Parts: sequence; C-alpha cells; structure tokens
Amino acid sequence: MKPRILMCRPEHFEVRYVINPWMEGEESRLRPDLADSQWQALHETVSQHADVALIEHAQGWPDMTFTANAAIVRENTAVISRFRHRERRGEEPYFAAWFDNAGFDVVTPTWDLSFEGAGDALLDRASPLLWMGYGHRTDTRAADFLEDELNVEVEPLKLIDPRFYHLDTCFCPLEDGYLLYYPLAFDRDALSFACNAVNIGDVVILNAASISLSRALSARGFRTQRVPLGEFMRAGGAAKCLTLRLDEPAEIATQPDCRMPIAEAA
Ligand code: ARG
Repeated sequence: MKPRILMCRPEHFEVRYVINPWMEGEESRLRPDLADSQWQALHETVSQHADVALIEHAQGWPDMTFTANAAIVRENTAVISRFRHRERRGEEPYFAAWFDNAGFDVVTPTWDLSFEGAGDALLDRASPLLWMGYGHRTDTRAADFLEDELNVEVEPLKLIDPRFYHLDTCFCPLEDGYLLYYPLAFDRDALSFACNAVNIGDVVILNAASISLSRALSARGFRTQRVPLGEFMRAGGAAKCLTLRLDEPAEIATQPDCRMPIAEAA
C-alpha cells in the first residue's frame, strides 16, 4: 500500500515575521510564483511514491504550508501541535479540523505545553521509538505526554544550534533503521537542509545533496531525488517540512543490526 502524505499548497505563503534565523532579511525577497512552482515539483515528486492529501492554506497563516508541523501521527491518533510562537498558533484549529474530518482520533496538548508535531517528533523506521527534539520549539515535558498518548518509547534529543531549531532540520530516520543526521550540524549538507528529507521506500527526496552524501546513500541502497526548494529555505524549511506522513503503523519489524549513521560531522 502506498504511504499517505499531507501537503498544503503555499497559496498564502510569505515571510513576514522572523521566528528562526533563516527568515532574517528574507521578508521582501520571496518570489511567490517560484515558491509555487517549487512546491508543485515537490508535490509531483512525492506523488510518484505516495498518495498526497491536501489541506487548504488558510489566509493570514503563511507558514501553514509546512505541514510537518501540523501534528504527529501514529496509527489512528494525531497529536496536534501547540506552537511556541503566536505567529503560528492560528494554524492549530485548521489542522485539528482536518484530522478530525479525516477520521483520526485528535489529541491536543494543554495550552502550556509547546509541541511542534513532526518537525520535532520523528518515528524510527526500524523500532518502536519516537525521536523527539527539544530546546527551541518543543518542551522537554512533551516527552512524557507523547509516551502516554502514542504508547511508544520517546528518546529526547536536545537541540543547541538556533539554525537547527526543529529536529527535522538536522535528523532524518530512514527505512531499515538508518539515521541521516549531523551531530555538529555545521556541514554544507546540513546548511542546505539535506537532512530535511522525505524518505519513501528506497527513495530520498531532498533540496540538495553533496556528491559524497548521494554516494553514501546509494551505497546503502537509497536513490536520491533532488527538488530545489530555495524559496522555502527563506522561511527555514525544505522537503520534509512541506510534508506529513499520515500512515504510521504501531508495529514495525525490528532490524537491530542495520543501525548506522549515514553522515556524521565530516
Ligand atoms: N518558518 C517556519 C517556522 O519557523 C518553518 C517551519 C519549518 N518546518 C519544519 N518542520 N522544520 O516555524
């Protein structure tokens, strides 16, 4: 069965506030037509490997196109985000309504618990484990909450570099238990958000990849598909941020021997 992924066409996408370092000075530089064609290309590429569901972009909430931040989904439960910044809080009811309509059991964190969905919560692909980034957007207390609500072991990881403010900007679990990540997150690949990848089967869709990263991935049986997403980098996001996986089973076959970082700090 094809994976299901949620996306949101950037009809009202703009950079009009600064809530991460990538957005600084980008306010007037964004080209909406180019953003739209970049998003269309990503949509087309993802659609080759997955069924894409769409949510309408609500006016006044420019970052809503980054559906990774809508929620974390496991089986039929969707834990909706509670954004740290008020600039994004207005997205919450739209996402909650979409998941409710789509038949998910919707869980909302209490008002004082920041949690930014699959931007900071990434399910491992080989064991029942949820990697959770905290320190910038998501509260460390979200770990217990997610453990209870999703019935999965949570491994919290502290983020320290403000440029890598969401876990998915520097860490990506791949099929078979591989982890694509940058411990120091200063490398060129990290700065082009190569870790902000969409992995579907043996395909890894990303904004950019160095030759050495493409080789490392291909040596482990992955194919890279590049889709330039420069206009979304102006808001601090790329391929993974623009998608949300909707079918996450509770049980996956454990393959403990294949855990190996693909890319460590060079
Ligand atoms: N401008 C958005 C923010 O700072 C970008 C979100 C990117 N999403 C992600 N999952 N990393 O919240």
